[in-house]
Amino acid sequence: MIKEKQIVLGITGGIAAYKVVELVRQFRKRNAEVDVIMTRNAQQFVTPLTFQTISGHPVYTDLFHSFNPEISHISLADKADVLIIAPATANIIAKIASGCADDLLSTVVLATKAPLLIAPAMNANMWENRIVQQNVGKLKELGFRIMDPTTGELACGYEGKGRLAEIEDILGETITILTEKDLQGERILITAGPTHEHIDPIRILTNRSSGKMGYALAKASHQRGAEVMLVSGPTNLKPIPDIHTIQVENTLEMSKAVSKHYKSCSIVIKAAAVADYRPKKSFKDKMKKTHKTLTLGLDKNPDILYQLGKDKGKKILVGFAAETKNLISQAKLKLDRKNLDLIVVNNALQKRGGFGSDSNEATLIDFEGKIDALPLMGKEELADKILDKIKQIKKEKSSAKELKKTSASEPKKRT
Ligand code: PMT
Repeated sequence: MIKEKQIVLGITGGIAAYKVVELVRQFRKRNAEVDVIMTRNAQQFVTPLTFQTISGHPVYTDLFHSFNPEISHISLADKADVLIIAPATANIIAKIASGCADDLLSTVVLATKAPLLIAPAMNANMWENRIVQQNVGKLKELGFRIMDPTTGELACGYEGKGRLAEIEDILGETITILTEKDLQGERILITAGPTHEHIDPIRILTNRSSGKMGYALAKASHQRGAEVMLVSGPTNLKPIPDIHTIQVENTLEMSKAVSKHYKSCSIVIKAAAVADYRPKKSFKDKMKKTHKTLTLGLDKNPDILYQLGKDKGKKILVGFAAETKNLISQAKLKLDRKNLDLIVVNNALQKRGGFGSDSNEATLIDFEGKIDALPLMGKEELADKILDKIKQIKKEKSSAKELKKTSASEPKKRT
């Protein structure tokens, strides 16, 4: 991912500068190196000491009186794997669009060959101003990545478009820029979250899945260059930018959405926790508590993954299993019955990970029965491990096929 990558972060003069402290923290958490450049105006909002403390490096503020004369604008420009400007004011956007280099940050922008990511933040009227829009258009045309500001209440009291993009999205975009595109050409269908089986307009049958595991897989697949289709049950998660997401409520809707896109995919990962049963009857109005006891009749839902396994072709099919006992043997049964290439089994009773948590402890079992017990880790990291394993399975399967083809075409020896 971004471990040991060199990020140069330019901060210009806007109130959103304080939000960027969290961005630096997120980069450091992932073991990236961050050098911060602050313009004179940026220092009016947050002190360089804050960024020095959080990045672990002195902050660059001046083109000529640098604390370290060896590090000039050129060496900062050369060492960057990516240059980010967040928040970017109308002023820095105008300077970049016109090729102006009158301070350290604008000079580094001109001198670097690294990709440039710009996250603007300003008053809504300024953002809408035609000159600003013209400059933004020019930069986009030149191939710079500009993250659209979001809409909402602005620090200046206005309501409108001009808020800095969410830190989580700037982080995601940076990871996308820095990640090797080793899944380019793959089309991956991922399911996430629970399903809601309606009893009446107020009550549902569901489970504790938050969707975090499936969304982490979708994000990681996108960052690695795959085209991603996400079928999501009801969750509280934010949509992931640039990922085609189909929202569904219940198992029947999930089954329909998955079947529609199954044919065109090369890999399917079913992280969703699908309800095995649905109420026989879904009431239009709220059920009243008139009976002393109540028996709810249930119908069996289709097993989506089992159906996919029957028509697998050359696809790689990955399932999950949430179990409470005999994890490995239960998962192996599912792997075989559903004709999977890989199953990811997690203990539904684990205390520190699993349902709803940001981390998970899982074991991978592949179609040859190879078992890989992974330690507790963040779902982002686990997603990457699962994708690495899928890549390995794909490679092994295609070289086995090649071998078969070669031996079939070799003339048979006479005995
Ligand atoms: O969403 P989070 O809070 O991040 O939590 C992640 C998770 C714990 C939900 C996830 O890691 C997980 O284990 N998902 C699968 C849970 C589950 O439903 O397991 P299962 O053993 O019931 O189903 C086995 C497989 O068949 C799953 O891939 C499931 O998507 C699929 N299935 C199950 C039933 C059904 N009717 N149709 C299916 O396709």
